[in-house]
Amino acid sequence: MKFRKLTIQARRQQLTERHGPIDWLPPEPANGDYLAMVEAQIENGIGIMGLALGLATGFVIDGTPYDLPLATEEPSVIAAASFAATVAARSGGFVTTATDPLMAFQVVFEDPEHTLVNQFNASLDTIKSLLTDPLTAMTRRGGGLRDIIVTPIPELPAVKIQVTVDVRDAQGANLLNTCAERVGDYLAGEVGQRPLMCIVCNAAAKRRATAACHLTCAQVGQLCKGQDPAESTRRVVQAGRLAQVDRDRAVTHNKGIMNGITALALATGNDTRALEAAVHAWASRDGLYQGLSHYETTPEGLHARLELPLPLATVGGCTQHHPTSRFALSLLGHPNSVTLMRIAAALGLAQNIAALCALVSTGIQQGHMPRHARKERSHDATV
Ligand code: MEV
Repeated sequence: MKFRKLTIQARRQQLTERHGPIDWLPPEPANGDYLAMVEAQIENGIGIMGLALGLATGFVIDGTPYDLPLATEEPSVIAAASFAATVAARSGGFVTTATDPLMAFQVVFEDPEHTLVNQFNASLDTIKSLLTDPLTAMTRRGGGLRDIIVTPIPELPAVKIQVTVDVRDAQGANLLNTCAERVGDYLAGEVGQRPLMCIVCNAAAKRRATAACHLTCAQVGQLCKGQDPAESTRRVVQAGRLAQVDRDRAVTHNKGIMNGITALALATGNDTRALEAAVHAWASRDGLYQGLSHYETTPEGLHARLELPLPLATVGGCTQHHPTSRFALSLLGHPNSVTLMRIAAALGLAQNIAALCALVSTGIQQGHMPRHARKERSHDATV
């Protein structure tokens, strides 16, 4: 029988036949929930892989206290986020905003004769009516179709129809791929040519959140391990500016912001690749890859702000298949997608503040990553 048609248990038994003696097998999903999750999510499942799950504590976001569930392999992430959040909470914590959860899909046709823009613009009402059916449930929940834009792509030459939909609490990819193919099939009949492709757009540039916080110089000094508060504040602002002007530094700066956000996305069963793709595309939206956060001095200390796209779902897909993501979402109080975006933005900013404070004060190895050292020591002791 084909490997994919076997049960998980049978596949595991076959491992030694296929690969020779194996010392250790990944845990079998003994719990029925995990078994169902592996079978529902992937082909050829043989087990589950654990990742440390912890709580980043001390967050106050728009006046509400939160503990944030994070799944990560990186030792310092939770400690750093909790430290910055706890200190920021003393001056009110994080204030956030978010757009509606808008996602888009693209239908692209090659257009050697340069005739399709006008033809597709003349079909907008038909395209809208084609989408009524697949978007009925979404529209009932307050989401649904928002706009349709037809744009030439002269380099190919081709034409793209980009349709924006409010996907409410879903990630949107599945639904939008269905919608895209429906539009593509219809237009193929109209123009007598297959579309080049029909697919969700992962840029998610209209599904964004912001987080901001004020820190006094004394708070910055505390985050900088007691170093001179005013000088530390000045250096943190300079570190923020560095990520605006130096592309190589911006990449590391943004990686740090995503340390927490990706860990929250993993814990809540979200698509981390879609999230990362959107964020890094946004970071280079002006043609230069830049830091996602902005720092400026204020009379009291500093103001920090982060803005980024956050395609995060709270229903559908893995968010409900995975027992741990169900737990994580319930721990967060069953947020809708927009609230989860706001939480994630606050987390990203906390992570960034913690990293910059460590970098400009004691340095990352001493200030930010003592747990790495502990892990290395325990590893050394066992090898
Ligand atoms: C480490 O995972 C992340 C940092 O490098 C981020 C940064 O440099 O801003 C500490």
